Amino acid sequence: MAIHKAPRSNKKPRSPVFILTISISAIALLYLLSSLNSTNGFSFSSAKTLKNLVVKTHQRPFNASEKYLYWGNRIDCPGKNCETCAGLGHQESSLRCALEEAMFLQRTFVMPSRMCINPIHNNKGLLHQSDNANSEERWAASSCAMDSLYDLELISNTVPVVLDNSETWHLALSTSLKLGSRGMSHVQKITRVNLKEKSQYSNILLINRTASPLAWFMECKDRKNHTATMLPYSFLPSMAAQKLRHAAEKGILDYQDPQIKVLLGDYDAIHVRRGDILKTRKDRLGVDRSVHPHVDRDTRPEFILCRISKWVPPGRTLYIASNERTPGFFSPLSVRYELAYSSNYSSILDPLIENNYQLFMIERLIMMGAKTFIRTFKEDDTDLSLTDDPKKNTKTWQIPVYTTDGEGC
Ligand SMILES: *[C@@H]1O[C@H](CO)[C@@H](O)[C@H](O)[C@H]1NC(C)=O
Ligand SMILES: *[C@@H]1O[C@H](CO)[C@@H](O)[C@H](O)[C@H]1NC(C)=O
Ligand SMILES: *[C@@H]1O[C@H](CO)[C@@H](O)[C@H](O)[C@H]1NC(C)=O
Ligand SMILES: *[C@@H]1O[C@H](CO)[C@@H](O)[C@H](O)[C@H]1NC(C)=O
Repeated sequence: MAIHKAPRSNKKPRSPVFILTISISAIALLYLLSSLNSTNGFSFSSAKTLKNLVVKTHQRPFNASEKYLYWGNRIDCPGKNCETCAGLGHQESSLRCALEEAMFLQRTFVMPSRMCINPIHNNKGLLHQSDNANSEERWAASSCAMDSLYDLELISNTVPVVLDNSETWHLALSTSLKLGSRGMSHVQKITRVNLKEKSQYSNILLINRTASPLAWFMECKDRKNHTATMLPYSFLPSMAAQKLRHAAEKGILDYQDPQIKVLLGDYDAIHVRRGDILKTRKDRLGVDRSVHPHVDRDTRPEFILCRISKWVPPGRTLYIASNERTPGFFSPLSVRYELAYSSNYSSILDPLIENNYQLFMIERLIMMGAKTFIRTFKEDDTDLSLTDDPKKNTKTWQIPVYTTDGEGC
């Protein structure tokens, strides 16, 4: 330490400069100690406490010079998806469409405070539906808080958002009532360009838009103008809630917990979709047909081994994300790879995860962090994929193929 005691014999009063120097050194020392403190693991937490930890709640205050865009309190509702909702990916396409419109209009988006969970995507058994529950009770039981999935603060750096159960939204609503005709406009089937340019909409505090009853993303469906696509597909997956990102990767929260990507180290990943997409139906002659005739074959371990050998060298750690539930289904891949699944990290995930959407959010972060990532379907030209069948429902039902076309590996 560089602080020397002044000699006792020195009876002269200490100079102000000397005292100042001492104080500055002391402050600097304290600062140094406190920063060591936060990086060196004095603040240890287990995943169990993390689940209950209240991390930065999103509070975007009401600001009279902001304008708001409201699409309703449930994604894809009203419409056919009100009672049985779509999977996470479809709901995200819809949410992304609405967020893009808010960006385009330079309005704050009013986000539904809950997201519906499709029962087939929920094997955590948290749906306690009783037959005499009313529709509000069923909704509460079959949905999860939006901020348990997404980091709204992070989203707001790109598109400002508030939740529809927030004080801010209530203030905006009451302000709109006071403003009379300039307060709120209920619109339907009006293009976003008109909403932006026509003064009867552009000056209104709240735009209450009724989106297509088919699904919100239909509003973005036939956009000819590609410059209007403002958010990439990866936008929402990378906006996972802090504690979900913290379980996957380092540098998110200041707690010394084990993190899945850190434990995996240098790894590759495959996303193997089976389950619902393997659905077949019988034709008039009783023969099974499928819209993805090669996917059942291409997602079996022996075919995967063959297909990925040119991309994933032997000995690599391979993370497998899949909805296949047969135990040991992918074990044959272990002849060439060190396999890892979410189940390898259950000590991190079990205390944290409340539903399969949260698990999938974490798995997507893991897949994004892989050195080589192989999807089930190709989504764009640069993607590696397990199958050559197109992802889009082709509507042509074909007889599933289980043999090879004679090509070697
Ligand atoms: C309110 O919003 C306007 C426009 O976005 C911004 O310029 C201003 O700084 C905001 N005021 C506060 C208090 O956040
Ligand atoms: C928005 O418009 C829909 C349809 O016109 C209406 O049912 C709903 O109550 C409106 N929402 C608000 C917040 O005013
Ligand atoms: C395409 O969209 C951009 C921004 O979204 C807009 O500025 C431009 O005018 C549009 N072009 C056409 C041809 O609609
Ligand atoms: C994951 O668990 C399986 C056994 O369940 C084991 O064989 C495998 O080595 C584990 N993978 C990693 C990366 O720890």
